[in-house]
Amino acid sequence: MVGTGYLGATHAVCMSELGFTVVGLDVDETKVASLASGAVPFFEPGLEELLRKNLESGRLTFSSSFEDVADADAHFLCVGTPQRADSAAADMRYLDSAMDGLLAAGLKPGALVIGKSTVPAGTAARLAARLATEAPHVGLGWNPEFLREGFAVEDTLRPDRLVFGVPTEDGDRAEAILREIYARPLDAGTPLIVADFATAELVKVAANSFLATKISFINAMAEVCEATDADVTVLAKALSYDTRIGGRFLGAGVGFGGGCLPKDIRAFQARAQELNIGRSVAFLGEVDAINLRRRARVAELATEVAGGDMKGKRVAVFGAAFKPNSDDIRDSPALDVAKALHDAGAVVTICDPAAMPNARRRHPELRYELNALDAALDADVVLHLTEWAEFREIDPAVLASVVRKPVVIDGRNTLDPVRWRQAGWTFHALGRPTL
Ligand code: UDX
Repeated sequence: MVGTGYLGATHAVCMSELGFTVVGLDVDETKVASLASGAVPFFEPGLEELLRKNLESGRLTFSSSFEDVADADAHFLCVGTPQRADSAAADMRYLDSAMDGLLAAGLKPGALVIGKSTVPAGTAARLAARLATEAPHVGLGWNPEFLREGFAVEDTLRPDRLVFGVPTEDGDRAEAILREIYARPLDAGTPLIVADFATAELVKVAANSFLATKISFINAMAEVCEATDADVTVLAKALSYDTRIGGRFLGAGVGFGGGCLPKDIRAFQARAQELNIGRSVAFLGEVDAINLRRRARVAELATEVAGGDMKGKRVAVFGAAFKPNSDDIRDSPALDVAKALHDAGAVVTICDPAAMPNARRRHPELRYELNALDAALDADVVLHLTEWAEFREIDPAVLASVVRKPVVIDGRNTLDPVRWRQAGWTFHALGRPTL
């Protein structure tokens, strides 16, 4: 497993759980040491127990030396493809250096390199061409990953579908190896799509683009609801009974964040432009813009309720992670809003059950409290921006007794407006009338 970040660490543990001998490889020695000692360096329910179990079994080890994986039958590429600093495109340097490392160590004839990272269409063909000249006896397969943070183990062991990208010529060998690796989920009836490289690469970006579009669609409706005094949560519920639409990913609020959706829709547009078909996915620019407007809207609403000027106002922000059950703060809407209000002169205090260490490292200028009541002490406005169960369970009457002004903005539409109103709060939400 080349790369032991979110994807690689989970995949290494789960493959070992399926009975394979696995080496998790990473150039980051701290990460390797942590995993080798049984500690998962990020928050993922259930992963640490499984890591320890498989370390004990002896099937799972971690290393930072490519030499230790040279004799493997299959090499999964699980490195990150983040957004480049200088453009919207994906940064391919980690993937290329993973290939450099593998090729320098020397790969066993007959081995299969399997791409898992999310990549621009055309990457697999490029890597295949490289293998053909530098290691002609090694094959390539592309096996995109759809795991959600917070459900990573479940999604890996029991995926909703498997996609195998194989070479158009002579793809049988790659398919056979992939079938052997995934025998357990395949035997359990997991649907399998075998496709060419480009289709396999595109499945992943298309899926994430669709999910992002669904969220931005309902958030666009939230904007319309705000202008018409309608309620987007009722609208979404009514839409959801149409089985062609379905109810999932129609949660209106402060929008999507994380290490995948935002950067994938940007990289997709960048790749489409390179291919001279920018127009085909130009709507993703609007999806991104709607998403970012929701963050701006929360900051604007907070400023409005604070009397038009944030200077010296105290703001409690519930949430720092981009979604609950995660400590991931990449492109987090909650942190973005917190930072904007801080920049506007507010004193912002954040509370998050898991993501505060990461948030503090990124934003030492913000304040942090372990307890939601402490974070809300003397607050002029409370922002609910990541829907952790802990925050939903807070008694609004108790919270009202510690704040300066009982004004809340529900940025996730998961609090009960009637209950908060009864406890004396002015209740604002995105896409819903103020109570
Ligand atoms: C996503 C994809 O779901 C997964 O298949 C892919 O492999 C990686 O990207 P993840 O980033 O873990 O997974 O998060 P996900 O649960 O999809 O949520 C993404 C973002 O959308 C979060 O910020 C979440 O808060 C937001 N969201 C989700 C909404 O705003 N509304 C919704 O209705 C659903």
